[in-house]
Amino acid sequence: MTNLRSRVIGLGSHLPPRIVTNEDLTEFMDTSDEWIVQRTGIRERRWVEGVTSTSDLAVEASQRALDSAGLAAQDLDMIFLATLSPDHFFPGSAVFLQRKLGLAGIPAIDVRQQCTGFIYALSIADQYIRTGSAEKILVVGSEVHSKGLEKSTRGRDVTVLFGDGAGAVILEATGVTDPDRESHLLSTHLYTDGAFAEELWVPAVSTAYDEDIVDQRMLDRGDQYPKMNGRQVFVHAVKRMPEAVEAALEQNNYQVNDVDLFVFHQANLRINEAVAHRLGAPEEKVFNTIHKYANTTAATIPIGLDEAVQAGMLEAGMLVASAAFGSGFTWGSALLRW
Ligand code: ACO
Repeated sequence: MTNLRSRVIGLGSHLPPRIVTNEDLTEFMDTSDEWIVQRTGIRERRWVEGVTSTSDLAVEASQRALDSAGLAAQDLDMIFLATLSPDHFFPGSAVFLQRKLGLAGIPAIDVRQQCTGFIYALSIADQYIRTGSAEKILVVGSEVHSKGLEKSTRGRDVTVLFGDGAGAVILEATGVTDPDRESHLLSTHLYTDGAFAEELWVPAVSTAYDEDIVDQRMLDRGDQYPKMNGRQVFVHAVKRMPEAVEAALEQNNYQVNDVDLFVFHQANLRINEAVAHRLGAPEEKVFNTIHKYANTTAATIPIGLDEAVQAGMLEAGMLVASAAFGSGFTWGSALLRW
């Protein structure tokens, strides 16, 4: 009997060309290459220039994913765009992505699950495919962080961590008869704990204050910039990401040793080292891009998949485990037969 499953038939990423090194950051904040590399593994990141928006990066990655699948945008049934740095407060950025792809009519949906956004979007898209409601779905993660970061010493703990970029996959419905060999998404596991919402967040613009969604007091406090309890994030990430991978392996009757490649969210190299250590996964099976792109939030996983393919480290038939953790707190995993 065949089961209807999703498989990745297209993959693409886009990083803006402007490189910002750790040294460059010292021009407007008190920090150092040594501090950043030692604690995070980040050496440089990409920042957009001019009017480039989140949907602009998304459309580039999407077009590459469509090209690699040999499809036109008109072949798509749905679009999901995961981002925490939308073009505008509303409408969602997926609307702008759809327009830039020259499409109208199909659903275009934003997913607001921060660093776990891509896994959430993948999971939702997978449900549409498993139920036979859609055949081809574009799933994108895209972020322009650089315009929302506090570029001064007050914001240095957060600002040094983030970069801009986008990654995209095309999912297609496929009938799977041999799950050990055929390319497909085996499972996704999603989790949220809102008790920690304020541990990593952007307080404004906001409907949760007394009057306007933005006022001078918010701007004076810097509420429009991300605020983070770095230690809390670290402690929870190194616990929750391995748990999510273990849940995926258990459900599919695999062991850590069966995984050929781990493509984790890229928040901090030290987090990923600790996650791999807890799982008992060898370093050479963990694919990281954080040193050159920093944390591109919802885009890190599709960018990682694309770069792993380009580096010859991800090939057809491999078992790929992915996990993410981020603001919310949200976390989750995806297990794929590539
Ligand atoms: N440059 C120089 N000094 C800095 C910087 C900086 N960019 N940022 C903070 N400092 C200073 C602090 O002010 C502090 O100084 P003090 O001792 O005089 O008060 C000192 O460095 C140590 O600060 P800590 O916050 O204690 O540093 P810590 O060792 O905890 O590392 C870090 C901070 C790297 C943020 C760490 O907590 C971490 O990696 N947490 C995970 C957060 C994360 O990855 N977030 C990404 C987004 S969430 C996600 O994607 C999962």
